[in-house]
Amino acid sequence: MCGIVGYVGNKQVVPLIIDGLRKLEYRGYDSAGIAVVDDAHHLELRRAEGKLRNLEEAIRLNPLDGNYGIGHTRWATHGRPTEENAHPHRDQSGKVVVVHNGIIENYLSLKEGLIAEGHEFRTETDTEVVAHLIGHYKDTEDLTLEQAVRKTVARLRGIFAMSIISTDEPDTIIAVREGPPVVIGLGDGEFFVASDIPPILAHTRDVFFLGDKEMAILTKDSVRVTDFEANVVEPEQQRITWDPIQAEKGGFKHFMLKEIYEQPRAVRDTVQGRVSLDTGKVYLDPMDISEQDFKSIRSVKIAACGTSWHAGLAGKYMIEQLARVPVDVDYASEFRYRDPVLNEDDLLVVISQSGETADTIAAMREAKQAGCKVLAICNVHGSMITREADGTILTHAGPEIGVASTKAFTAQMIALYLFALYLGEVRDQIDEAKAKKLAQDLAELPLKIEQLLNEAESIDDLSKEFFRVQDFLYLGRGINFPVALEGALKLKEISYIHAEGYPAGEMKHGPNALIDEKLPVVIVNTKEKGNEGSELRYEKTHSNIVEVKARDGIIIAVLTEGDTMSATAASHIIEIPETSDLLGPVLSVVPLQLLSYYIAVRRGCDVDQPRNLAKSVTVE
Ligand code: AGP
Repeated sequence: MCGIVGYVGNKQVVPLIIDGLRKLEYRGYDSAGIAVVDDAHHLELRRAEGKLRNLEEAIRLNPLDGNYGIGHTRWATHGRPTEENAHPHRDQSGKVVVVHNGIIENYLSLKEGLIAEGHEFRTETDTEVVAHLIGHYKDTEDLTLEQAVRKTVARLRGIFAMSIISTDEPDTIIAVREGPPVVIGLGDGEFFVASDIPPILAHTRDVFFLGDKEMAILTKDSVRVTDFEANVVEPEQQRITWDPIQAEKGGFKHFMLKEIYEQPRAVRDTVQGRVSLDTGKVYLDPMDISEQDFKSIRSVKIAACGTSWHAGLAGKYMIEQLARVPVDVDYASEFRYRDPVLNEDDLLVVISQSGETADTIAAMREAKQAGCKVLAICNVHGSMITREADGTILTHAGPEIGVASTKAFTAQMIALYLFALYLGEVRDQIDEAKAKKLAQDLAELPLKIEQLLNEAESIDDLSKEFFRVQDFLYLGRGINFPVALEGALKLKEISYIHAEGYPAGEMKHGPNALIDEKLPVVIVNTKEKGNEGSELRYEKTHSNIVEVKARDGIIIAVLTEGDTMSATAASHIIEIPETSDLLGPVLSVVPLQLLSYYIAVRRGCDVDQPRNLAKSVTVE
């Protein structure tokens, strides 16, 4: 995934574009580049390998200025992360310049055709081919930039979000979308293009998202939107209510830590207005899935990636226990390749923080082709997934910038809990007394998360003992198994320590062989008193703790406050407040997020922008 920005107006464009790229660096940081055009219609490019600060240094050493331009921060797909391959890319004439987020799947055949016509290429990228193709149409058919772009996108196969300028048509930026997001910011005598909202928020709250197969033609005075066939489109304008500070670090050392601390609010905002504490009744946002549809579905399929897949696994327990509907959970990247058996009375739930994950979009489209209704749980209104799903439960976690997902994960589980409660109610599986209790448990969660955050220092102390280890094992049983997986993923993706999440009950079938005095084993063993299933699970997992202890393993146990059994066997105890069993993961994951954060900081890792990763994977 990459980040694109563009500005046309009367201000100095360079600082605006650099600031915009800084707010998009979470999308990819292998290289960065900028192209600006000055009043004399002279085009200047600066590009640099690595982080944005390298581009800033290149500009400091060789300044440039202009009042319109485009910029790019890259997560390399085609072509190594070198300066040569850094965007922006130009056509043969050097007049047409393109920045691109996505993949052009047929770029090689297009490149061969252009080479046959005498074009020479400087880079290995697919994006350079697009610039050449636009330039080819402009020069050989005497087309305007807009016309040349239309002819070009008609020949592209793949996904692409692009900004395009040409020195032949000053003060004009063309933005194009087929897949990854493009947000247009509507200023006063100025317009912005960006891959996401944060770069625009500092200038205007009035935006619209380009739709799929749409393009916007921006000048200082106007913005015009059409589809690829030149039919005029009236975009749906939105006013973003985010506080711009929300999209900044707010005094925290890293976005990830800020977002861990935003979880009480993310949970509160996701619950807000969706459940009555008096009756326990849940209200979903209006959608194209009726109550009758929900009553008649035969099964639920869940498809997601990474952390969102872990939320889906937790959601399985919630939906099966509260609504008594069978649930299957798939990695979205596997879903359509297993040729799933789908019927019209199956409901697909897709879970995605960004709403732009290519694998998850593909899974959604697979299910829609089979006639299934699709419900999205997503954090970005207007993203591709929310636009194509039949219904959406938005997680109101606010912008999540850190590559490692934290507040979106807990908000996703809250959304799944609300959905499970709703489904149980409409299918008469839950009486009012039980619904009120479950709603009350939900209402108490934010304060319990804050209680855990107040203990962060003890987790930092714990990280001192483990930041040099090479391996970690995380264990959990039942609904604590997804927590073990998530704790392991958090650690490996930001500290680069190998960590594995495993079902506790499976240890005796092989992984027990790993246990020795050097291996830290995190075991999530919470329980809800009086809940028979929870207590049985707790006893079985306690046996795992004893087995690990008997082999001199190092046990970090996540336990419910007041635990007197597993606490005696653990080397280290992390206590969490008691809550209803199905909400336990929302609490038990918090200390694991903090543990991974503090270990990664002690290892000097780039917590917000871990190597080889990007915030949202918009390519398969
Ligand atoms: C989680 O910390 C990772 N950043 C990654 O696994 C992420 O959850 C996954 O790529 C799915 O992204 P999405 O929720 O935006 O679809």
